[in-house]
Amino acid sequence: MKRRYHDLFLLKFEWIEDSVCLRSLFFLVRLTYFLFITGCVLRPLGPLDRPPQNCALACTGYRPFAWGISTSSLQYEDRAVETGSREYFERDWDLMVQKKEAPSIGNALYSWSHFDEDLKALKKIGVNAYRFSIEWARIEPQPGEYNQEAIHHYVEMARKLKESGIEPYVCLWHFTFPAWLSDQKNSTQTNWLHPLARSHWNHYVARMVEAMSPYVTYYAPQNEPNGQVLTAYIVGLWPPHHLCDFKGYKNAMSMSVDFFRDAATRIKEIKSDAKIVSIEAIPYWYHGWLDPGGLIYNTVEHNAFDHLDKVYDLCDIIGFNYYYSQVAGPFSLLTQGSHRGTHFTMMGWRIDPRALGKLIRKVGKRYHKPLMITENGIATLDEQKRIDYLRDHIAQIQKTMSQGYNIKGYFIWSLADNYEWHYGYVPKFGLATMDPKTFQRKFKQSALYYHDVINASQKLGKVVPFPR
Ligand code: BGC
Repeated sequence: MKRRYHDLFLLKFEWIEDSVCLRSLFFLVRLTYFLFITGCVLRPLGPLDRPPQNCALACTGYRPFAWGISTSSLQYEDRAVETGSREYFERDWDLMVQKKEAPSIGNALYSWSHFDEDLKALKKIGVNAYRFSIEWARIEPQPGEYNQEAIHHYVEMARKLKESGIEPYVCLWHFTFPAWLSDQKNSTQTNWLHPLARSHWNHYVARMVEAMSPYVTYYAPQNEPNGQVLTAYIVGLWPPHHLCDFKGYKNAMSMSVDFFRDAATRIKEIKSDAKIVSIEAIPYWYHGWLDPGGLIYNTVEHNAFDHLDKVYDLCDIIGFNYYYSQVAGPFSLLTQGSHRGTHFTMMGWRIDPRALGKLIRKVGKRYHKPLMITENGIATLDEQKRIDYLRDHIAQIQKTMSQGYNIKGYFIWSLADNYEWHYGYVPKFGLATMDPKTFQRKFKQSALYYHDVINASQKLGKVVPFPR
């Protein structure tokens, strides 16, 4: 005969063992209990250690406001160099493609050889800011060997943008490292943690900034370092592919902070009026009821804010990328990306514009500095859905600005449908597509919507989400 009741403290209710449904419930209760106990152990995100230096929270008015578009080198550029030549470069991502751990990139959007097509499209949309990244491996194909022509090419891009009235925002690292920083024998010494990485990073940054400084004022040292380190050391998807390597995570995170601080210092030494922009991955996290002690919530909040907490003092603008909200709970972590339907994007991400408003308030109060949404956008095949998404997020910018939050810009990801990392060319994030014969960027309806938003906002001197 089964025992009917047993030890409440250890949560053994053996009388329910016969029913699958009740057994699942039992599992849930036990999981929640476990999470509660362990959750109490992890420190919640506390206030910043030091009081903020710059208390410029109050909105100083609409102008200047950067209406921008964001892109990245690997996701846009063709390689455009001969295999075996001195200029030939490889990134850690290329090694993954070779091992079939990532989809093939091809020539992406030919933005290296046909940057003028991008420029034409940007001018037509009417943006006054454009964010692009520099491919470190292209600049330094071998340790200490620099490609002067490539440096010149990036400088030319910045010059052309500037002359077209478009402010270049230059990101010095967008997820990819030169392949020579991948240690195939000792993966603990890869990328951030490679013995050559930090000194070479410093030289690379200095060279690029010296070359670009006549045209470039806004520099973002890194794109989403917090997301990249998480994906590399906890999820195990990106090099060095370590699963739940907490020590590696901590070391890489701390090194990425050092890289950021080095870069920001170098940039200001070279160009004292340069502006430093952070770009962090910050989704909006709801505290889930299956995580009563906050183990998951506190963990994801630390991932969102720890890096920024250690570099915000050097930032002139606190920039972050916002795409979706998520519940911090065991099921939501396991099922993230699998949802479909009206309230989700092609990536399976929850569409939650109001959470952007909440996030702006949270980040604004935490750092007391000017803010910028450095990426926001949606993968979808449905243009009306994209327009609705953009409009509702832009409306949150308008709302929070009217509440006094000092937002200095908004950037859409992205100009055209591009290479989306592990998903290849399937997700459609672009305001345009590319004609493969002429390389022209062909606008979707959402590009016209963005054009109208920018036009109306610039005319009226305020953010206008509903231009017509
Ligand atoms: C990254 C982009 C990426 C986009 C959409 C951002 O986190 O910076 O490289 O394409 O999200 O997933």
